Amino acid sequence: MKISQRGAIPAFIVMDVMKAAADRENAGEGVLHMEVGQPSTPAPKGVVAAAKQALDEGVLGYTLAMGITPLRERIGQHYQEYYGIAVPSERICVTTGSSGAFLLTFLAAFDPGDKVAILRPGYPCYRNILGALDIEPVEVPVGPENRFQPTLEALEAAGGRALDGLLIASPANPTGSMLHGDELRQILDYCRANEIRYISDEIYHGITYGEPAVTAAALDPNAVVINSFSKYYSMTGWRLGWMVLPEEMIRPIERLAQNLFISAPSLAQHAAIAAFDCRGELDANVARYARNRELLLAELPKAGLDKFAPADGAFYIYADVRKFTNDAVVFCAKLLEQTGVAATPGNDFDPIDGASYIRFSFAGSTKDMAEACRRLNKWLARP
Ligand SMILES: Cc1ncc(COP(=O)(O)O)c(C=O)c1O
Repeated sequence: MKISQRGAIPAFIVMDVMKAAADRENAGEGVLHMEVGQPSTPAPKGVVAAAKQALDEGVLGYTLAMGITPLRERIGQHYQEYYGIAVPSERICVTTGSSGAFLLTFLAAFDPGDKVAILRPGYPCYRNILGALDIEPVEVPVGPENRFQPTLEALEAAGGRALDGLLIASPANPTGSMLHGDELRQILDYCRANEIRYISDEIYHGITYGEPAVTAAALDPNAVVINSFSKYYSMTGWRLGWMVLPEEMIRPIERLAQNLFISAPSLAQHAAIAAFDCRGELDANVARYARNRELLLAELPKAGLDKFAPADGAFYIYADVRKFTNDAVVFCAKLLEQTGVAATPGNDFDPIDGASYIRFSFAGSTKDMAEACRRLNKWLARP
C-alpha cells in the first residue's frame, strides 16, 4: 500500500550515534558521552518540587492550547527580568518543546512551495521538518570566514526577496556561533525590507561565554521567537518550549495548536513556572560548561584538532577533522568502538561539507571531558 513521500526524510543521525552508545553500555562497556546535545543534569530542584506538588494536588488534564496562564505570565515576566523588555503574555504560546514550535510556526507562516533559508551547518531538523511539510529549505552555506554566520550578500545569493522565511539559531548548534546585536539588527532590517519572516531559535540563550545573547523580540515585533526549557533549564525530556508571536500569528497558531496537540504536557507546564526562580542552580551548570569549554579549547589542539567554530555559546565544539578523515561517520564509529568516546559526525548538520567535521558536546561532567581528551589524544597520535 502507498506510504507518503513526506515520511522519506533523513534520520536524525545523532540519534543513531546515541543508539550505538547505548548498545555499548548495555554490553557492559563504558561510554564518555560527547554526542548528546543535552545537559547531563536533572531539572532544577525547584521544578522537581513543583512537579511533585502538582502530582499530589492537580488534576493535570488538558490545558488551554496556548498554555496555562500562570506559565505564560511567568514567561512574560522573564522577558522583563532578563532582557528588560515588555512582552504581553497574550503573545506567548507554550509548546511541546521547541520542536513543536517549529511545526506550528512553519505551518502558520508558510505554504507548500515557499522557500525558507536556513544555515549550513545547522540543526538538521529544520531542514527535515520543512521538507516533510513541502516547504523548500534553502541552505545558506556559512563557514569560518564569517564565524559561521550569514552575511547579507549570502542571503542575497540564497534568493533575497524570493525567500519567504529565514531561520537562525543564536547561539547555534553545532557551531556555538552567535549573532551580535548589530548583526541581528541588520538581518532583521533586511528581512523587513524584503518581507521575509524571521524565525529566531533562542534555545541556547542563557548558555553563553562572553556577551549575552540578544533576543529578536527586543528588535522586531514581526519576528517569531522560539525558546525551550530543554537546554539552559535542563529539562529536555519534559518536552516544553514557548514562542513569542507576532500579533497576526496568534490566532492561526492557536487554531493549529488546538488541532495538532490539544495542549503541551500539563505536568511540565505547572512545574516549569518554578524554573525561572532556579537561576542559581542553572548558572552553576553554565559555570561547569564554561570550565569544560576551556578544557577542550586547551586540550583538543594538543590532539591535533586545532580548527573549530567559535563556541561563543551553547555546549558544542564543531571541529574540522579533515586532517584525519574525509568520512566523519566512519571516524565517529571507530572512535566509539576503540575509545568509548561518543561524538557526532558533522554529516547530520551539513550534508555537503559535514563529513569533514565532528561535533563534541561538552554538557557532561568535567571529569568525563578530561578523560575523553586523554583518550582522544592517545588515539589520534597513533601512526
Ligand atoms: C538549535 C536547536 N533547536 C531546537 C532543538 C530542539 O529542542 P527541544 O525540542 O527539546 O526544545 C535543539 C535540540 O538539540 C537544538 O539544538
